[in-house]
Amino acid sequence: MAPLIIAHRGASADAPENTLAAFELALRQQADMIELDLQPTADGEIVVFHDDDTSRWNGRAEPVARLTLAEFRQLDIRGERVPTLAETLDWARSANMPLNLELKKPGMAARCVQLLREFKLVDQVIVSSFFPQALRELRAVDPAIARGYLMGIRTYRPDVRLREFWPFGALRRIGAAAWHPYHGLPGLDWVLPKVRRAGYQVNVWTVDDPDRLRTLAALGASGLITNTPAAARAALAGVLP
Ligand code: G3P
Ligand code: MG
Repeated sequence: MAPLIIAHRGASADAPENTLAAFELALRQQADMIELDLQPTADGEIVVFHDDDTSRWNGRAEPVARLTLAEFRQLDIRGERVPTLAETLDWARSANMPLNLELKKPGMAARCVQLLREFKLVDQVIVSSFFPQALRELRAVDPAIARGYLMGIRTYRPDVRLREFWPFGALRRIGAAAWHPYHGLPGLDWVLPKVRRAGYQVNVWTVDDPDRLRTLAALGASGLITNTPAAARAALAGVLP
C-alpha cells in the first residue's frame, strides 16, 4: 500500500510552519494527514508551536514555558498567528483532515483528550512524542487513542551500539500503534521492514528528498512526514500501486 503523505508542521516549505495557513495549504497539496507540535501555555491552554524559546520569531529567546496564550498570540509567525489546539481541531474537523499531534512535553494529556472528545476526533489522530511519559499519560486518560513513539538521534554517539535503536521494547512498553523514526537513524532501512511485519505503523520524518522518499516507500513505510506534500506525492507517483 502507498504510504500516507504527512505534512510536517503543515505544508511548511511553502507556508509559515504550525499555522492554519500551513494546514490549509497542506490540504490543497493533498496531504493525507498533518503533523503538528503542541506546547502548554503558562495559563493552561495548548498551542501549536515547535520551539522551546521564542528566538526564531522575536529574537529574544524567552522560554515558552513562561508564556501565556496572549503572549503566544503576539508572536509573528511570518505574518501568521500561533493557533490553539482547539482552533486547529475545529479546522481539522471541517476539513476532514487526520492529524498527528506531537506532544513536545508531558502534562498535556488530560486537556488534549478533552478537546479531542469535544471535537469528536479521537479516532482521527495519532498522538506521538519523544517522551514515553507523555504517551503513558495519554494512555492513562484514554487508552484507545493511537500512540506513536518518536525516535531521533539527538542522543546518538558513534560508540552506541545498534541495539540501542532497536525499538521493540519501547513500542511494547508504551503500547504504541506506530513508530516514528528519524529518516537518518542508523540501521533504519534494515529494521523498518521488521517493525512493519510485527504489525506496527512506521511513519518516518522528515523526508523531502525524492530518492529517499521512494526508498522508504519501497521498504514499506506506512507514512512519510514531509515539508513538501505535493512534491512528495509527485515523487511517489507511478512507483507504488
Ligand atoms: O514528528 C516528527 C518530527 O516533527 C519530530 O521532530 O523537531 O520537527 O518536531 P520536530
Ligand atoms: Mg514535530
